Amino acid sequence: MEVFGVSENSTGTAVRRLFSEDGKTEIFSLQDLKRIYENREESGSQVRRATDQGMKIDLEVVSTDGSNFKWKWGSDHAHYSFGDLLIRPLWRSLTGSRQARSARHPPQPPVLPTTGNLKDCLPDLWVQCFGLVERYGPLVKLRIFDDVVYVCADPEVVDIVNQIPDKRLPKEVFGCKAVAGQGVFIADGQRWEFGRHALQAQLTPEAIDSLVPIFAGKCLKLQEIIAANADNIDMFAWVEKVTMDVICDVGFGHNLKCMESPEMPELLPLFDEVIEASINTSLYGAFDVLGTRKRWFEGQLSKLDGMLDEIIEAVREGKHTGSSNSLLHHLCAAKCPLTARGFTQSELRDQLLTMLVAGHKTTTLLLTWGLYHIARSARVEKKLFAELRQVFEGDLTRPPTGEDLRRLKYMDMVVRETLRLCAPVQVAQRGLTQPVQCGEYTLLPGGHSGRGNSWVAIHIMGISRSKKYWGEDALEFIPERFEPAKMAKFHPFQFIPFGGGRRLCIGNLFAITQAKTLLCLILRKFYVRTIPEKPVQIDPKDIATPLPASRGGGVWLQFTGRDDGLEPEEVAEPPTLGNMAKSFLDEGGADRGSVYPRRSSGCWNFSGPKPPLLILWGGQFGTTQSAAQDLAKSAQQRNFEVEVKAMDEVKPSELLAGLKVKDEQPVVLILIATYNGHPPENAAAFCKALEEVPPSDKSADINFAVLGVGNSNWISTYIKVAKEVDKHMARAGARRFLPLEVADKNDCFEKSVRSWRQAVLSTFANSPEDFVQEQIAAAAEQIAEVIPETLELAPSSKPPTSMSEHFVTSLGYESCKISSNEELCQRAEDAEAPSVRQIRVASAGAYCCGDHLEVRPRNSAAQVERACRRLACQAESVVVASDSEELPSDPLSMGDILAYHVDLSALPSQETLASLAQYATKSQEATSLRQLATIKEDSAYDEWCERCLSLLDVLDEFRSVSIGFSRFVEVAPKIKPRLYSIASSPLARGTDAELCCRVAKYQACASALPEVRSGLCSSMLASATEVICKIKEAPHMRLPKDPSTPIACVCGGTGLAPFYGFLQEREQCRKQGTASGLVQLYFGCRNEEDFLHQAQLQRWHAEGLLSLKVSFSRPRDPALKEYVYHALRRDAEAVLELLSEDGLGCLYVCGSASTLAKDVTNVLVDLLSQHGDATVGFARLDGLQEKGRVIFDVWG
Ligand SMILES: Cc1cc2nc3c(=O)[nH]c(=O)nc-3n(C[C@H](O)[C@H](O)[C@H](O)COP(=O)(O)OP(=O)(O)OC[C@H]3O[C@@H](n4cnc5c(N)ncnc54)[C@H](O)[C@@H]3O)c2cc1C
Ligand code: HEM
Ligand SMILES: Cc1cc2nc3c(=O)[nH]c(=O)nc-3n(C[C@H](O)[C@H](O)[C@H](O)COP(=O)(O)O)c2cc1C
Repeated sequence: MEVFGVSENSTGTAVRRLFSEDGKTEIFSLQDLKRIYENREESGSQVRRATDQGMKIDLEVVSTDGSNFKWKWGSDHAHYSFGDLLIRPLWRSLTGSRQARSARHPPQPPVLPTTGNLKDCLPDLWVQCFGLVERYGPLVKLRIFDDVVYVCADPEVVDIVNQIPDKRLPKEVFGCKAVAGQGVFIADGQRWEFGRHALQAQLTPEAIDSLVPIFAGKCLKLQEIIAANADNIDMFAWVEKVTMDVICDVGFGHNLKCMESPEMPELLPLFDEVIEASINTSLYGAFDVLGTRKRWFEGQLSKLDGMLDEIIEAVREGKHTGSSNSLLHHLCAAKCPLTARGFTQSELRDQLLTMLVAGHKTTTLLLTWGLYHIARSARVEKKLFAELRQVFEGDLTRPPTGEDLRRLKYMDMVVRETLRLCAPVQVAQRGLTQPVQCGEYTLLPGGHSGRGNSWVAIHIMGISRSKKYWGEDALEFIPERFEPAKMAKFHPFQFIPFGGGRRLCIGNLFAITQAKTLLCLILRKFYVRTIPEKPVQIDPKDIATPLPASRGGGVWLQFTGRDDGLEPEEVAEPPTLGNMAKSFLDEGGADRGSVYPRRSSGCWNFSGPKPPLLILWGGQFGTTQSAAQDLAKSAQQRNFEVEVKAMDEVKPSELLAGLKVKDEQPVVLILIATYNGHPPENAAAFCKALEEVPPSDKSADINFAVLGVGNSNWISTYIKVAKEVDKHMARAGARRFLPLEVADKNDCFEKSVRSWRQAVLSTFANSPEDFVQEQIAAAAEQIAEVIPETLELAPSSKPPTSMSEHFVTSLGYESCKISSNEELCQRAEDAEAPSVRQIRVASAGAYCCGDHLEVRPRNSAAQVERACRRLACQAESVVVASDSEELPSDPLSMGDILAYHVDLSALPSQETLASLAQYATKSQEATSLRQLATIKEDSAYDEWCERCLSLLDVLDEFRSVSIGFSRFVEVAPKIKPRLYSIASSPLARGTDAELCCRVAKYQACASALPEVRSGLCSSMLASATEVICKIKEAPHMRLPKDPSTPIACVCGGTGLAPFYGFLQEREQCRKQGTASGLVQLYFGCRNEEDFLHQAQLQRWHAEGLLSLKVSFSRPRDPALKEYVYHALRRDAEAVLELLSEDGLGCLYVCGSASTLAKDVTNVLVDLLSQHGDATVGFARLDGLQEKGRVIFDVWG
């Protein structure tokens, strides 16, 4: 019996419809089943007659969608005796359930009550398969909740399971329809047959021969790209574009032009994400308690559907502009031979998606790994070239034909060996609908106790790397093993990269022909070598896939033109892919069936004690430290021993030598921020020393994971330091147990920190139940955590110490007079107009041009008074803090604590609001506060933030909150010091430092009318006569030693500050008779009103010290509007000359990271790549930053 067609009734509810096998009769009742059976009998069918006329079936079709239906049967099922007429699957399951008691099952790791073998499958079943098979043999049974998976890495068994025609893959992912669920890859039954038939007709050998010119056309374009970037090119990224262009051209006659644009079309990442989610669903779907992944998945899927619908409609309506000979054109015209129906719109979409999904990534991997292996072996390359010369008879420019490609026999072997060692598809699946006998073992349908599904996972990768079939050198790349005489001795199922049986890959010839075309065209023109400094890294989620460049990977190769002369030397042998994968698997737990990290004495197992955690953090302004402390608190609640340290408190050599926490080897968790591409101050020494630790392949028995804290506005140096720390830790032999994760201040920062915390803690769950609890707890963590109560402020009768004194005596600050404080903007008195102050801080200390001044702000007296009133406390009362990490232990006045320690105007965090809720005496107010503290997407908090309220505003609004002074201090946001670039030169001002400070302004809506408020520190500075501050060195931000070196300075607004200092310095040098190089200043401001230091800059311009280029973003005449980066682009030639390899010039960027620096980076990348590949531009910019010739000093 087939089920096909899901229609909707008038209420919009999905109605399942059952049809007979020939698709003609719709089944409504058991009578219909009986009638169909009897008709069959009459028409001479071979079907066995039902013997028991007192037939009784209690059958319910619970879920049908396509042909993937589940059966449930009632208590009467024992009476079932209807034979195997139309309901074979049910019959077989029933028989199977009886058999289950007597059957012999394949070996299975010990199971736990609910989750079964879930723990053995996480975090990635396909990676775990290697270890499971090694430990339990080539056929392993696993239970995951109610489903059963039989992992099979035995060619003998493959032969048997290949006979099963159906896949029965899940049709639902997080409760949404699966990707391409009606396409050939997933569908079963008649729908599959129709789809397969229609596609196969278009992929015959003749049809593929006719595609060779398309393949070749794209590869010729690639040739050009390689020629332009021969030294260093990420082939993984480029091949991905080639294969995408090919599959779109062949699939729907559209030239996507991926190769012509630096960005990949949106479609591609969508595929990868959606497919990955789809594949992992059966394992992880249960954890989507919040429904976040479901929402995300639905969103992505509908985007994909939308894109494909547009394409299909264009083809159907004849509006499509590309080729009319595409697969889609043929599919639109196809008719099912059995029912004469055509494909529906959604089926067409799914077929198209199937082709794109099944054909793109797989072919990309084959082509990339093929080239990579050739690059590693000059011997293979020579042999291939000799064959090419022979086949093309010396004319190596002639376009290849299908016939030429067939004659390339050695190339065939190279392609096969690539497919063997780097099988692009690791597993093929079959759903069990009947018991299958494999030697002594029986594989049973119906999942666990008939409640779920049973699958066979054919472990393609395991078989193709098995030493039993491929010998001791199974992990080496040796194409000759595919010589015909040797292949004749193969087991028929030991080489199955394209699966097998009726479900054999439909695109195998397509992929092989495309691979051979590419290799032919590239190798005829170039020698290819690997780049030892840029080794390939495997994606931990998928051992067939290299990490993409965007995640610190890429497959970087170098090419030398064959016409350019000499053959390049063979490069030092990097680790073979086999070894890389092996070490990856060892790390992943090949011998244990779990990727949980190992301990010196054995391995993490679920019953072992929890390891101690050493949490290292590197940051400057508290974000990273808070994230580290939150992690520590969560871990302590789960009974971990935890130590938290700033990174520089630890030496990498000691850490790697086995530094102990509580006499035990700790797991190391590193959270580190990046500052303009550099480590934060408290991590600089650690990072430098780590870089110098020699590489080691010995396991240091240290397990680590890194969280990169950063801001993606810094596009060229986003989480740069974290990436380096992660890389160097691994290089030094430590074991990365979680891939590098990032938390972006610009995008869902808290959420990322939380999910990393959850990933870390789940890793060390003590049992699978713990693990599940961990996921549920994470999902249920809906209200922000209340800040723990630890601060004790006891009344004191001693005279208070002032906080400013504490800063000076204990923290290295100075209290300095402000000798002048002037306005630099016109109209500054208007509340909303810009105001920038030039502030001269007397005797600030010794400094260099480019350094910063760190200022300690304080709340205004009015704010302090307001706080005292609300908290009902006296500013003069004295208290002492015991055991506080943040407050000194001296007696302090409450007024001073309120002035210097808590930020009375900052936006309260959700944790603060959750803590306040505890003190609300009116339940309505408590509920509202808790609502604001609820963590979810599009939360009430997000909207509330737009009101820009302060903690005092909250206390005014929630009058019933009755909170004591110490608790208020504990939960309030804390004041952080602010940095200002010094806008003067010590040559001109001695130890006085000048600032150029913009008064930050924003609108707050505390009452009905919005009011303009000013930033804490800048408004304080605007009217200050004294300031607590210290010089903060910025060693990266220095003028070139030789004053005659030309420089370019690019800035906007107060980004001018350090350059004003530079100019003063150069002017002084000039006065002292030293030649000074030209300063090209690209300065952006709104209009003449905030043209800072206009007269002075114009004077320097006139004197030839400076070449001034001012861009107005809001000029009176709109025609003159331009941004700094426009000016920079206009001067492309001068910029490139300044930065040329043989030049010495430097370019500095200062100002806003999110606008100016981002735009400037993009222009620089474009100029440096000569309008070509952005990755090349980024690499060159990176190189110039490393050399200190491009310097960013930008802020948020
Ligand atoms: C390396 C470095 C160099 C710098 N150099 C300079 C320089 O030379 N000149 C200069 O002017 N600045 C410079 N800055 C920026 C400076 O450090 C301060 O960030 C800036 O002056 C704003 O601080 P503030 O205390 O006045 O404002 P904050 O009180 O910190 O407010 C800043 C912004 O936060 C938001 N905000 C504040 N309170 C709330 C609330 N309750 N609700 C919602 N949003 C709120 C508003 O958007 C406001 O504009 C530099 C920064 C760095 C890191
Ligand atoms: C190197 C490239 C490729 C590899 C390694 C590969 C591998 C596979 C594997 C292992 C299967 C599952 C077979 C099974 O279940 O037994 C499969 C199925 C499939 N592949 Fe490929 N594939 C590749 C390229 C392609 C291309 C280029 C296309 C399309 C043009 C394609 C289309 C399909 C389809 C439609 C199926 C489903 C077949 C069915 O279930 O009937 N594949 N492929
Ligand atoms: C001056 C400055 C420079 C920064 N540079 C970078 C950078 O190069 N790359 C990056 O990813 N983030 C950068 N950031 C963002 C910080 O890394 C981010 O704000 C982080 O949360 C700071 O952590 P901390 O508060 O613990 O110091 C920068 C921030 C500032 C203020």
